[in-house]
Amino acid sequence: MDNLSVEHLIGIKDLTRRDIELILDTATSFKEVINRPIKKVPTLRDITIANLFFENSTRTKLSFELAEKRLSADVVNFSASGSSVKKGETLVDTVNNILSMKVDMVVMRHASPGAAKFLSDRINAKVINAGDGTHEHPTQALLDAYTIREKLGTLEGKKVVIVGDILHSRVALSNILCLQKLGAEVMVCGPTTLIPKHIGKLGVLVSHNLRAALEWCDVANMLRIQLERQDVKFFPSLREYSMLFGLDKNMLDSLSKEIVVMHPGPINRGVEITSDVADSKQSVILQQVENGVAVRMAVIYLLAAKIDRQ
Ligand code: CP
Repeated sequence: MDNLSVEHLIGIKDLTRRDIELILDTATSFKEVINRPIKKVPTLRDITIANLFFENSTRTKLSFELAEKRLSADVVNFSASGSSVKKGETLVDTVNNILSMKVDMVVMRHASPGAAKFLSDRINAKVINAGDGTHEHPTQALLDAYTIREKLGTLEGKKVVIVGDILHSRVALSNILCLQKLGAEVMVCGPTTLIPKHIGKLGVLVSHNLRAALEWCDVANMLRIQLERQDVKFFPSLREYSMLFGLDKNMLDSLSKEIVVMHPGPINRGVEITSDVADSKQSVILQQVENGVAVRMAVIYLLAAKIDRQ
C-alpha cells in the first residue's frame, strides 16, 4: 500500500506533493463512503483516538470526531476548560495520563505554536495538529485544496488569493505551503499591518488592493480578523477594515470573471464577507466543511496504517 512519508501530521511543511495527493485521493474514496446510507467503515475498530482541544473549535473538533467515528475508531474527547489543566497540570502530564489509557492517536489544538511537534517528540502515539497557535492548521489547508481541486479540476496553474489577517493566521501559512506544493500561484492581500514583513520570501505575491487581487485570482480565501490574538490595534476600526478589505456582492458581481469564494470559518458576517456573498452560489464554504470530514478520515486512515497493531 502507498503510504505517507511522515509519522505524524504536524504541518504541511513536512509533506511532499505525493503525500498531499495521496491524502486528497484517499479522501475521494471516503467522500463516497460518507454519502452512502450507511456512512461507516469498520477499518479502525482496533484504534483509540483522543481529541485534545486546549483552544476553542466548532468545525475542526466536530469534523475530527465524525471522521473518527465514520472509521469506527473509539473516541475520547478532552477540552481544557473543566479539566485539571486549570489546576496547573502540564501538557505532557495531561497527555501521558491519557495515553496510559491506551490511546493510539492524538488530535490536538493548542494556542502555542510548536505544541504538536513538542508532543510528537515525547509520546508514543501518532499526533495530528488541529491548529497550533499562529503556526499551522494542516487539515484545513488539505480540505481547502481538496475543495479547489473538486471545483476547478486541478490546482496546477490556478491563482489563489488569501485575504485578511495573514499575520495571525495558521490557515494562511498552511494554505500557502499546500497550494504551492500542488502548483498553484498564491497572493496575500490585506492591510500592511496584517501582512508579515518578510512573507515575500515564501514566494507569494503581496497586494494591498482588494479589487486588483480579486481580478487576478481564480479563488479568493477570505480570512477572519483574529481579534483574540491581537493585543494592539492593527487598523482603526472593523468598519474601515470592512470598507477596504471586506468582500460584498457589488464587488463580486462587478469582477470581469466568476471567482470561487472560500472561508475557513468561523465567519464574521459583515466584516470580511457579507451574508449575500457567504450564501451565494460562488461560495463553497459549506462544501469545505463537508470535505473536511473526508479529508480528516484520509489523514487518520493513512497515519493509522503506520501504527504497529500486533
Ligand atoms: N476552521 C476552523 O478551524 O474552525 P474552528 O475554529 O471552528 O475549528
